[in-house]
Amino acid sequence: MATFAPLSPGFGLEARDVDLSRPLNERAFDELERAFYAGQVLVLRGQKLTPAQFVAFARRLGPPQPHVIDQFHHPDDHNILILSNVKKDGKPTGLQDAGSYFHTDYSYLQIPARATTLYSIVVPKVGGDTLFANQQAAYDDLPEAMKRRIDPLLAVHHYGNRNDLDESSRTVASVLSDEQKARMPVITHRIARPHPVTGRKALYAVSGSSFGIVGMPEDEARDLLDELARHATQPKYQLRFKYGVGDIVVWDNAALLHSATLIDPDDARTLWRITVLEESAHATATAVLAQTYAA
Ligand code: SIN
Repeated sequence: MATFAPLSPGFGLEARDVDLSRPLNERAFDELERAFYAGQVLVLRGQKLTPAQFVAFARRLGPPQPHVIDQFHHPDDHNILILSNVKKDGKPTGLQDAGSYFHTDYSYLQIPARATTLYSIVVPKVGGDTLFANQQAAYDDLPEAMKRRIDPLLAVHHYGNRNDLDESSRTVASVLSDEQKARMPVITHRIARPHPVTGRKALYAVSGSSFGIVGMPEDEARDLLDELARHATQPKYQLRFKYGVGDIVVWDNAALLHSATLIDPDDARTLWRITVLEESAHATATAVLAQTYAA
């Protein structure tokens, strides 16, 4: 059985005594999944996994969705996106500076991401942490009048970082080719979005891919989204995760914003990333967990 230790006073759990390279029975996996939904960030340190083992673990959380940036898919498995600033023969080996602004993964898709998991391969000498911001706590703390105002609202999302559209900037959303851009839809999500498993409301992707609000003039919508983003990313809602080699972090995209932190481009940092979707194939498991939370 795993033991769990808090990562911060507010949220985040570290699971100890778990070796993901060995078969994990249903009971052991259920325990981890419960901790994931309870903690929103789940960490398993010092793992030694092959690409296949990493994908097998992620698959138990939901169906993996390969990233639109297909030039940095892992050669052994396209479900893994390589995040790296390392160059070989002058060419990038992975996606550099990905997600260096607060955002939610795949919030630009109609069926968005349930979880993202990163597996740390090379840790830089300085920095390279990931920041998480608790959007359930941020929602709970809103004045009642603001909750009533945003409750019926739908935000308009598409791929990008609304605060930085300069393709030469390090904090722009990772740049897509024309063909990749053409595959990206414009969709909507509720701003105050109930969690698909626990039902608990959170501010959803108020930073990153939200560019407007249905039925609201553009300026007013941007002002409201910016106000919510300022509130939602205050230090009191944040957790900073520092990687060691082999660490795995899994986060709940329905409950959090997250951001990579910029580092010296010559200080090597490499992680493998898998993102799994919210999806009906997991409806049974989700229904069971939802009942547990309702009880
Ligand atoms: C991401 O947002 O996908 C990357 C996070 C990180 O590299 O810290």
